[in-house]
Amino acid sequence: MCGIFGAVSSTHVQDSLIKGLSKLEYRGYDSAGISLITKTKKIKRLRCVGKVKNLKSLVSKSKSSGVCGIAHTRWATHGKPILKNSHPHNSDEVSIVHNGIIENSDDLKIFLKKKKFKFTSDTDSEVIAHLFSYYSKKSSDSISTMKAVAQKLQGSFAIAAICERWPDKLIAACNGSPLLVGAKKGSNFISSDIHALSESTNKYVPLADNEIVEIDSDNYQIYNFTGKKISRKTSSTKKQTKIVSKGEYNHFMQKEIYEQQEIISNAIKHQIGKKGLLPNIFGPNSDKLLLKTKHIHFVACGTSYNAALIAKYWIEEITDIVCTAEIASEYRYRTVNVPSGTLFVAISQSGETADTIYSLKKAKNRNYCSILSICNVPESSITRLSDLVYLTHAGPEISVASTKAFTSQLIALLFMTMVLSRTSKNKAIEQTILKQVKSLPAIIKKTFLLEKEIKKIAKNFKNKKHTLFLGRGVSYPIALEAALKLKEITYIHAEGYAAGELKHGPLALVDKNLPVIGLMPDNNLVNQVLSNLAEVRARQGLVYIFTNKKLSGSKVDKTNVINMPSCGHFVSPLVYVIPMQLLSYFVAIEKKTNIDQPRNLAKSVTVE
Ligand code: G6P
Repeated sequence: MCGIFGAVSSTHVQDSLIKGLSKLEYRGYDSAGISLITKTKKIKRLRCVGKVKNLKSLVSKSKSSGVCGIAHTRWATHGKPILKNSHPHNSDEVSIVHNGIIENSDDLKIFLKKKKFKFTSDTDSEVIAHLFSYYSKKSSDSISTMKAVAQKLQGSFAIAAICERWPDKLIAACNGSPLLVGAKKGSNFISSDIHALSESTNKYVPLADNEIVEIDSDNYQIYNFTGKKISRKTSSTKKQTKIVSKGEYNHFMQKEIYEQQEIISNAIKHQIGKKGLLPNIFGPNSDKLLLKTKHIHFVACGTSYNAALIAKYWIEEITDIVCTAEIASEYRYRTVNVPSGTLFVAISQSGETADTIYSLKKAKNRNYCSILSICNVPESSITRLSDLVYLTHAGPEISVASTKAFTSQLIALLFMTMVLSRTSKNKAIEQTILKQVKSLPAIIKKTFLLEKEIKKIAKNFKNKKHTLFLGRGVSYPIALEAALKLKEITYIHAEGYAAGELKHGPLALVDKNLPVIGLMPDNNLVNQVLSNLAEVRARQGLVYIFTNKKLSGSKVDKTNVINMPSCGHFVSPLVYVIPMQLLSYFVAIEKKTNIDQPRNLAKSVTVE
């Protein structure tokens, strides 16, 4: 997704701009660009389609340098991923980069065309460059120029601009899209993502919505959109020096799948003491708050949403708490009822997903008893906005398709279920879950032994166009997650279904070419799932069953049964998702797709 980095320094900034952009690469992008104010106080812009390394070689070939500059990685929204649509966008004396979406760009284009501005791209962002140029001629300083620009814009934006009229300054603004200032002696920075600052400084100040910042090499000053000065202290972040590499693995996804055993072991080590779960692992006084909670609204996107769905099954099974799990892009726009005693829980790997951030901001203005986030990235936008934070400590997840972040969220949600279970009449339930949690690392290790078998099965999917995953109860969200993984990295159309819904539509798709995967942990729903799979087999569908139930009887064709290690009911989603991740991975190997960076997708979705 789009990323912004900018710098003003007493020395040349082009190298630090490229380093900043490289740190933003993990988000996914299709073009990159940079603008500098050169020695002659003129703007020099360089852009390219494709990777930051191409931009790096353009910059070094052109020998361009400057002490003030902006840089951008673009993920196409308005207009194709081609050179003319790449950022920065220029106008007379001005160069800008933008994240977000300008909703009134068509109206602004009409206004600007009347003022004789010429448009050279298909983007909504270009209006910002022309507006900045237009107002810079009417204003005496960069703050009032940006103020005038920001007041014209509708939608979400993070903007960084440079202007030949103020050659030693960078001016930035944001509303609804994250932006941070990085501070260091002799250099100051602007970035849409805390990761990108890590190469340059560990001191940062987040901007709030409707704020502008003016930066030079020695100082920065924040203003709100009415022009009032805002003072805010810098925070410090732990500098991440560890370089993330694939190590012995062929892909980050493969590495991240195999890291899950250790991540779960660490979560157990850090959150479970001699007497069980440590107190208040979700933040100060969180146990007390959780025990008073009557309702929980889980809100998330993508894989994190599938984790939320599982939490709903777990919590409602053993407590009286009413849970909803909702996709953030729906939650943010609909009318939501918030009964008293409701806790809002945002789940996000990155902490930067635009729809989840918006939902969280919406929730902050409602009568929730607290806002809790379960997140993998410390100091991300979502953690900064939350009252309570649980960090999943899965380590940087590089592969776009999420794996270890998912299981680390599930373990957090299982811990939450344990705390909430104290309201249940069944006093033994917390201990039951605890026992199952402790058994997980060893079971996951056994699950990895299925790799060879799964690799073999994966060959059968190479030429398939569609796949159906079926599950019931807690395995239904795992069917959704399995289908999501297969879609994301193999481009095979896949759907996850509650097995009981099969007859209400998808059964019409079943023929000898359709693989149907049944996820069937040994629980009270086995017979129902078996009946559903028998319906598929009766129509010649290709059934594969992942189960730890010893199968016998006429309903079962044992040819495609993958015997899973046995596991407790509560932890079964964490166990059953692993062969699904491996299956997608090996099908993607067969299909030779770009596993870590699938086409069209981004790791961190920072636009709605
Ligand atoms: C993108 C990623 C997914 C992720 C989703 C939500 O679509 O590709 O892997 O599940 O965003 O991201 P979050 O960081 O909020 O969990």
